[in-house]
Amino acid sequence: MLGAEDFIDETVQAAKDRIKGKAIIACSGGVDSMVAATLVSKAIGDRLLAVYVDNGLMRKGETEEVRGMLSDMGINYRIVDAGDEFFAALKGVTDPEAKRKAIGEKFIRVFEREAKEFGASVLVQGTIAPDWIESGDGVRDTIKSHHNVGGLPKDMGMELFEPLRDLYKDEVRDLARLLGVRASERQPFPGPALAVRCLGEVTPEDIAIVREACFIVEDEIMTASVAGKMEMPWQYFAVLLPSRSVGVQGDRRAYGRTIAIRAVSSVDGMTATYSRIPLEVLDSISSRITNTMKESVNRVVYDITSKPPATIEWERGPPPRHVFIMLAYGAA
Ligand code: XMP
Repeated sequence: MLGAEDFIDETVQAAKDRIKGKAIIACSGGVDSMVAATLVSKAIGDRLLAVYVDNGLMRKGETEEVRGMLSDMGINYRIVDAGDEFFAALKGVTDPEAKRKAIGEKFIRVFEREAKEFGASVLVQGTIAPDWIESGDGVRDTIKSHHNVGGLPKDMGMELFEPLRDLYKDEVRDLARLLGVRASERQPFPGPALAVRCLGEVTPEDIAIVREACFIVEDEIMTASVAGKMEMPWQYFAVLLPSRSVGVQGDRRAYGRTIAIRAVSSVDGMTATYSRIPLEVLDSISSRITNTMKESVNRVVYDITSKPPATIEWERGPPPRHVFIMLAYGAA
């Protein structure tokens, strides 16, 4: 990469050259899209519209936080409430790649609508190198289709401008610090949002559970890190598993869901090491989750794998081979 200052100058110039009319940017509030929005708005001012889609899959308080960031930055923006549309598109979808494609497609349709109303002919995206590397490029294997890469429909009807395509997360953070972008230290959050942390079908009820669990994990880990009890992880969150297991409530047998805690250290998300969260912090996370969500969660586990062999997020794979064989013989 060029020096950060040269990169900023060159990108602003490139945006001026490429975008003669109006442009729209998908702004999730993460560091990548906020940096892309800042660079392009430096180039074309109010001819850029930043659109934040509240897809019903965001973290607790996220929409209000992003609204605050966008208005403080003086970027022309719009918040679109599209939760119902996303849940409808996700109904019955359990395969993780199908989920990503459904979400990507819905995003683009919402943006197309907004772009038409605004009169934009260019779609700006904060895609970074790992997004397209992991999505497969015809040479590499598809590890996962990042929604802003794999989900793009062919008939999108807008020209694409991706100024951060060749950068890695740590480089984007450097730019963010230099540009005074408040999202510079925000932990990464996947484009398909909490849908990837909800294994199996995505329902409003399950999203509510994983949203609360994510909030608790973030809050407890941040508090422990600030108090010097542990190192701040690069990324930390909760995952909701689809199965239920037996537990006890009072003296009754009861079934409940499992939450997995995930926390990793990394530089660019391409490889990662699981964080050594102290037991006392794990204790508080576990009891806070099971006390707050007594009716739905009865088990909390901690993921102690690094990447590779795991990925950072969890996603459901296809059923194991013996299930197919049993199905074929009518035994299941
Ligand atoms: P994995 O799970 O592949 O994650 O080890 C690496 C990093 O990428 C984030 N991630 C995504 N980001 N769209 C995104 O913008 C996506 O579809 C997506 N999937 C994973 C993940 O949170 C981690 O930081």
